[in-house]
Amino acid sequence: MPATTKMTSRELGLVLAQQLLDVDDLHYGLWEPDLELSLGNLVRAQQRYTDMLLEQVESLLSERPAPRILDVGCGTGHLLQLLIERGYQVDAVNPSAHLNTLVRERLAALPHNTTTLYETGFESLPCRRCQHQYELLLFSESFQYIPLSDIFAMAPELLRSGGRMVICDFFKTDAHCDGGAGDRSFSGGHLLAEFYRCVEQSSFRISHDEDLTAKVSPNIALLDEWLTRRLVPALSSVDEYLLAAWPRLTRFVKWVSRHKLARARYKYLSGHRSQAVFEKYKSYRLLVLDLE
Ligand SMILES: C[S@@+](CC[C@H](N)C(=O)[O-])C[C@H]1O[C@@H](n2cnc3c(N)ncnc32)[C@H](O)[C@@H]1O
Repeated sequence: MPATTKMTSRELGLVLAQQLLDVDDLHYGLWEPDLELSLGNLVRAQQRYTDMLLEQVESLLSERPAPRILDVGCGTGHLLQLLIERGYQVDAVNPSAHLNTLVRERLAALPHNTTTLYETGFESLPCRRCQHQYELLLFSESFQYIPLSDIFAMAPELLRSGGRMVICDFFKTDAHCDGGAGDRSFSGGHLLAEFYRCVEQSSFRISHDEDLTAKVSPNIALLDEWLTRRLVPALSSVDEYLLAAWPRLTRFVKWVSRHKLARARYKYLSGHRSQAVFEKYKSYRLLVLDLE
């Protein structure tokens, strides 16, 4: 997937989240029991997740000399920066033109870094240049965007002998497509069962598999409240204004976009986007896969 200037709706979601919430990280964060669920604590929850990942990376790489990491889907580049500051050599691959502007700004402010930012999707990495370059492929909430077949075909080519993949992301549970209320409220994620099948058929074995769903799902409740209490009233005011100022044009645009609007209404406003629904249909996992 080469970088394009045309944004997909999923990328728009990420960009809006980053801009509206003014956050450095695009992951859910870890809501441990001692952390009160509030928008003010979102950055703290995200920092706990980042610390957990950094700890994981450090313990996996402690015995490898001059390890090299590929941060797959590096978002705004925050984790990338922290890894560089800890002395790792890190490259990154990211297809979002908007996010890559932020990543380039970050890298420019870091003296002496040797990072290559591949401004494309993981699937389109230049294989020859990247062949057997990395000790670790890090997927922080980016795994779901990349076809499993591409990941399992390419990862052994990118990794050095004894290399690893660290994956932190959500997957679809067996309840997926059961037709229950809210089944389609959260898109994204590979089927967990299919992922395990792919691992079995690959040259990787799972050395760590932790279910973090209960620590991540409070974020859903938080964002849902923000969406219904803040964003929806704000958008309704804009809608009201546009209808008064340009009634025909506004009605026409709404008619043309009616299918997209209906999908968005179902997804965000039907009341199904709850923590319980997320926990039923998604499993959020921290996984370490070792190349055999
Ligand atoms: C939810 S964000 C996570 C960002 C960051 N890793 C973090 O933890 O904050 C997903 C990231 O994956 C990137 N992405 C989407 N499709 C991708 C692909 N095919 N290959 C690599 N990265 C991709 C997005 O541009 C975005 O930066």
